Amino acid sequence: MSVRILSRNEIFTEAPEWREPGRWNYLAMYSSVFGGVVTDPALMVIPLDDRMASRGDGIFEFFDVVNGYVYNLDAHLTRLGRSAEIISLDLPFDMATIKQITLETIAISGAKVCGVRLFASRGLGDFGCDPTVPKKSLFYVIVLKTGLMGLFPPDMVTEGTSAVTAHVPSKPSFYAQVKSCCYLLNALVDLEARRNKAAFGIWYDQEGHLAESATENIAIVSQEKVFKYPRFEHMLKGTGLIRAAELAKELTKSGELNGISQTNISQQEVYDCSEMLMLSSGIVIPIVKYDGRTIGTGKPGPVSRRLSELFQKDRTENREFLTPVPYS
Ligand SMILES: Cc1ncc(COP(=O)(O)O)c(C=O)c1O
Repeated sequence: MSVRILSRNEIFTEAPEWREPGRWNYLAMYSSVFGGVVTDPALMVIPLDDRMASRGDGIFEFFDVVNGYVYNLDAHLTRLGRSAEIISLDLPFDMATIKQITLETIAISGAKVCGVRLFASRGLGDFGCDPTVPKKSLFYVIVLKTGLMGLFPPDMVTEGTSAVTAHVPSKPSFYAQVKSCCYLLNALVDLEARRNKAAFGIWYDQEGHLAESATENIAIVSQEKVFKYPRFEHMLKGTGLIRAAELAKELTKSGELNGISQTNISQQEVYDCSEMLMLSSGIVIPIVKYDGRTIGTGKPGPVSRRLSELFQKDRTENREFLTPVPYS
């Protein structure tokens, strides 16, 4: 076999072969490299010398659009700003501009229900590591046909799913707080889960305290009906987890929960809990089998069901957390 030399026209065809089948889910992409939005998936590319690609030197966010409104956008933008601050990345635009570009890109896609990923990269340059080399940082937005709810099979929510303890080294505290484009350790957590035929891998910190899953947070309900979630030391501050802890207050008022506690959680406490919950952005997935043991009754419990209901209402009706997309 000899390597072919390709022309521009062979690469950017209408349905390029290099896009994996099924990856036509991409509706619109903004790129600060190009200075605008493309809707042709063949053009949704980034340069290989983007530090985000060559060094993982970038940050990202993912969120959901529900019925034409972005859910919890400000929390995601705040975390983007915080990730940038921790790794000393000067974002290419101020936050108001980032918000505007994001909303306009979604509007161009026309999608009322979709997922959105934002990326901020250190910039283009020389394939080296020195973050002072790139002249300017970059920003990308990609709008995906699949929103949060499409990422997980519906029966995971209704029937519950399985998890195993992952043995991947945990991240240092400051790094766990960065939603970094270098998710190699997170990917290995997922790999360990898949190899053990489980949906999620559960990460513990060096002291043996519950941390998180590859791209989700974990909370438990103790036998005493206390909603417990880990301290933020070795995990990402999930927007879903923070909102869940707020929504859970309603369940303490109604007596469905006896309390809410952010605390260190040992593996034994997880084994002994009455409910184990996976939380991400606005979805609650009950984990009913963990390390081969049955959790609680082996069926989704009342707190996961109630939190799912509260999230469903929050995601569709709570105007305080819904940002309208300016469709024309
Ligand atoms: C490592 C990690 N932990 C937790 C979460 C959950 O965060 P959120 O609820 O904001 O989606 C994510 C989400 O992407 C993540 O990547």
